[in-house]
Amino acid sequence: MAPNPITVDTINPKVLECEYAVRGEIVILAQKLQEELKINPKSHPFDEILYCNIGNPQSLGQKPITFFREVLALCSYTVLLDKAETQGLFSPDSIKRASGILAQIPGRATGAYSHSQGIKGLRDTIAAGIEARDGFSADPNDIFLTDGASPAVHMMMQLLIRSKEDGILCPIPQYPLYSASIALHGGTLVPYYLDEATGWGLEVSELKTQLETAKSKGISVRALVVINPGNPTGQVLAEDNQKQIVDFCKNEGLVLLADEVYQENIYVPDKKFHSFKKVARAMGYGEKDITLVSFQSVSKGYHGECGKRGGYMEITGFAPEIREQIYKLASVNLCSNISGQILASLVMSPPKSGDESYESYSAEKDAILSSLVRRAQQLEKALNGLEGVSCNRAEGAMYLFPRVQLPNKAIEAAKAVNTSPDTFYARRLLNATGIVVVPGSGFGQVPGTWHFRCTILPQEDRIPAIISRLTDFHKGFMDEFRG
Ligand SMILES: Cc1ncc(COP(=O)(O)O)c(C=O)c1O
Repeated sequence: MAPNPITVDTINPKVLECEYAVRGEIVILAQKLQEELKINPKSHPFDEILYCNIGNPQSLGQKPITFFREVLALCSYTVLLDKAETQGLFSPDSIKRASGILAQIPGRATGAYSHSQGIKGLRDTIAAGIEARDGFSADPNDIFLTDGASPAVHMMMQLLIRSKEDGILCPIPQYPLYSASIALHGGTLVPYYLDEATGWGLEVSELKTQLETAKSKGISVRALVVINPGNPTGQVLAEDNQKQIVDFCKNEGLVLLADEVYQENIYVPDKKFHSFKKVARAMGYGEKDITLVSFQSVSKGYHGECGKRGGYMEITGFAPEIREQIYKLASVNLCSNISGQILASLVMSPPKSGDESYESYSAEKDAILSSLVRRAQQLEKALNGLEGVSCNRAEGAMYLFPRVQLPNKAIEAAKAVNTSPDTFYARRLLNATGIVVVPGSGFGQVPGTWHFRCTILPQEDRIPAIISRLTDFHKGFMDEFRG
């Protein structure tokens, strides 16, 4: 028999190079422990695995928004629209919305492929939603509906990266979709470091320094990624800071890739979300001045519909011949899934005051967001109370990113088992408590420091148990490794 020609030496090396820590080693270990607990509930010193590793709200018990699901159900099973009982079971505005959406879909067929950019009527609704949010016009032809923000990011990397000599400026710490996508498309990640001391601030002087350094190495920097609100770091950019970033991109001829998937997740009264497009337009910059892509998703916000895979990118400032190429890329995938498209339109155009669902919708939304504020505050306070741990507040997004001053002996112990100190800590935490966090180095190494990312998503009644297990573990860990 001929040897199998598919080996790690013969597959695409870019696939080998790409890493994705959010679903990495610690999560694989957690899944193994979960299986062991199923077979023998007494096999570990805890009875359940507490997943604090990923921004997947509904997997941790968050309920979907009723209005969104009613519309989806009616669009998916149109027979319901003709049944008398539906009037009593569904709210009048969800019936109206579903009928309106179906009227925009050729043949009312949600099982058919759509236009490659997404159903035109849904893009109209999204454009109107962007306009209402920003106070500046939005064009439905600038919108590409996608299966979540991730494929949109890949599409942009595919467009921009020609070779290893093409660089993309990315924050460190960053969400590893960016490092993975840049690696897969064969480019170079040009890091810029967020400043932990100023609450993970983004300094334009740092952008300039890193851009110059990259240029001196022969890298042609094509774009700047900004994640706002930040993942894993949770900071929300101030508008003045955004203006500086817009000017930087304009002056340096960089595409501004604005990851705005956490735009609804703001937890502090002194910060507000401003889209980069709004900031640029308010500065008087139009299509000719700056090339901008905004990514949005149904996975985050208060709705957390990760599994539905919906999102969009709004692209502005690209020449017509480049848009054609982006359209071609979208066409290769035929279209994004229709439920995700419908959800994206709902997220950008939820019930309004006066609609029958408005009050219940607002109550559901407010309950989720205010609970996230409480969870963020409780966890942050607890983390800051641990020896050697400092944690910036989560102004937005879904995570805390505490820094842990690990004792030298722990760092040596990690080295002895060939792992990084933060992975060593996260593994010990999991084995002792069942709590799953992501080692900070998976988000790009901040030199000389160790962090982990912990979501604020477990349901409120689980938070005290998480805090108490984490506190006991940390104390024991520090006692064991103290010099
Ligand atoms: C900053 C950021 N961007 C993009 C994504 C991708 O989300 P999705 O593909 O589910 O829209 C995530 C997911 O966690 C994220 O945190």
